[in-house]
Amino acid sequence: MRHDREQKSIAAYRCGFISCMPARLDLIQSVTGFVLAIFIMAHLIFEASILISKDAMLTVTKFFEGYYFFGEYYPGIISFLAAAIFLILIVHALTALRKFPSSYRQYRIIISHAYYLKHADSKLWLYQVITGFIMFFLASVHLYMMMSRPDQIGPYASADRIYSEWMWPLYLILMLSVILHAFIGLYRLALKWGIFEQPGQTRRQLKKLMIISIILYTSISLMSLGTYMFIGYQHVDKVGERYQP
Ligand code: HEM
Repeated sequence: MRHDREQKSIAAYRCGFISCMPARLDLIQSVTGFVLAIFIMAHLIFEASILISKDAMLTVTKFFEGYYFFGEYYPGIISFLAAAIFLILIVHALTALRKFPSSYRQYRIIISHAYYLKHADSKLWLYQVITGFIMFFLASVHLYMMMSRPDQIGPYASADRIYSEWMWPLYLILMLSVILHAFIGLYRLALKWGIFEQPGQTRRQLKKLMIISIILYTSISLMSLGTYMFIGYQHVDKVGERYQP
């Protein structure tokens, strides 16, 4: 019976009755999500160079401006990188959008499923919808700024922006959203594509890894943000002055 149904599905697919577009969109969503998650993991670590020292953060900035390759500063490289990430983010958001609950009825179903049935993974999916929605707006502001002012990055320039130009509330909300979104996303990706075997045990181990990563990244990023704020606070009378080692 099941074999018959499978044969019919394969035949329908071969005859072109079933579109493979949903599967393709799903793959695009997974690949772009994976690339963005890896990017953000590296990004928050590079940002945390400020925890070592102002000089360490300057070295990272100079690296991304191409100084160690070309012997000169090319902030355009940062604009290009930011534009590429923006493009990947837009493709990811577009492919994810089709899965957002689109009516009040659908919201009711997913909320009752997550809470009344106490279904933890549906709850995680709901968190992803909420954090994804927040990121639509906040990540766009941040990326636009990085694209348009790539030369304004450095220990003092970044700290001034965060403290004196009041970017810290945006970064705080963006940071919490992006960390939750990225690690829940990676967890769901690993389960969805069945990367690991032994389903029951793997799910528990992956969930543990996800929680540890969220706690670790949140702690590091909170410390970085706090450090930028402290530097910005100390530099409040000299806003605009650039850091000289
Ligand atoms: C190539 C693209 C990007 C560049 C060049 C970039 C650069 C930076 C820089 C220089 C800072 C330090 C603060 C400042 O100078 O304003 C920062 C902070 C931050 N960025 Fe990005 N960013 C990029 C993409 C993203 C994306 C896509 C996200 C999230 C969706 C993101 C999330 C954050 C967060 C949350 C912070 C605060 C970090 C902390 O609390 O330690 N960034 N970024």
